[in-house]
Amino acid sequence: MIRVGVSGAAGRMGEAVCEAVEEADGLELSGRADPTLGTELGEILGGVDVVVDFTVPDVALENVRACLAAGVHAVVGTTGFDLEAARAAAEASEAKLFVAPNFAIGAVLLMEVSQQIARHMPECEVIELHHDKKLDAPSGTAKRTAELIEAAGGNVHQPIHSVRLPGLVAHQEVIFGGVGQTLSIRHDSIDRRSFMPGVVLAVRKVADLPDRFTVGLEKLL
Ligand SMILES: NC(=O)c1ccc[n+]([C@@H]2O[C@H](COP(=O)([O-])OP(=O)(O)OC[C@H]3O[C@@H](n4cnc5c(N)ncnc54)[C@H](O)[C@@H]3O)[C@@H](O)[C@H]2O)c1
Repeated sequence: MIRVGVSGAAGRMGEAVCEAVEEADGLELSGRADPTLGTELGEILGGVDVVVDFTVPDVALENVRACLAAGVHAVVGTTGFDLEAARAAAEASEAKLFVAPNFAIGAVLLMEVSQQIARHMPECEVIELHHDKKLDAPSGTAKRTAELIEAAGGNVHQPIHSVRLPGLVAHQEVIFGGVGQTLSIRHDSIDRRSFMPGVVLAVRKVADLPDRFTVGLEKLL
């Protein structure tokens, strides 16, 4: 049994993660931390093997450092925090850190396909659309998609466009433009359950990752 703690357990994603962990074979929900539940992360670290963090940009780095210092592996979905500082913390630790800006398989495939398309149609624009409670913009997924497209030789026009509206969950479109043609690819997470198979996979694999710091669900597939 892998003992799992959830940080941000009372949030939109945290609640979905608690449910997914309870339903998953071989995982045990062993701690729920969230200020709204009156439980600090530090109070649950003694009884868990892995922490899943879906909190807010301002506290994610502090949470990651606390997990790693306690020898607890961390799976982080929070976006908009300093990844280079997280990398430094992981590299100084024995525990592993896995971060994914998007745990939905469809979004990961969008990123993969975008890199292939960029080799032939480099000019593109990224539009990301999220619910109006999202704190960071552009989204972590959009920033990662842009990085990967640029690394594949594409030219992502700036700025990335961020739409925030009630009714949305998490959506992204990449439009490639060539002579006399465009190609659009789009992913829509219409339910937070879309992220859960990726989160459960990361919880199962994090302890055995070859590196102390890993970014991207594609590394686990
Ligand atoms: N990686 C992905 O696939 C993915 C998918 C969706 C959302 N996200 C990201 O996940 C994060 C959470 O999103 P959400 O919609 O669930 O937000 P939310 O506001 O619903 O939940 C955040 C929760 O974190 C709690 N929190 C605040 N400080 C804390 C602390 N110090 N310790 C523990 N908990 C604390 C809050 O009380 C709240 O319940 C955001 O950064 C969002 O961008 C990532």
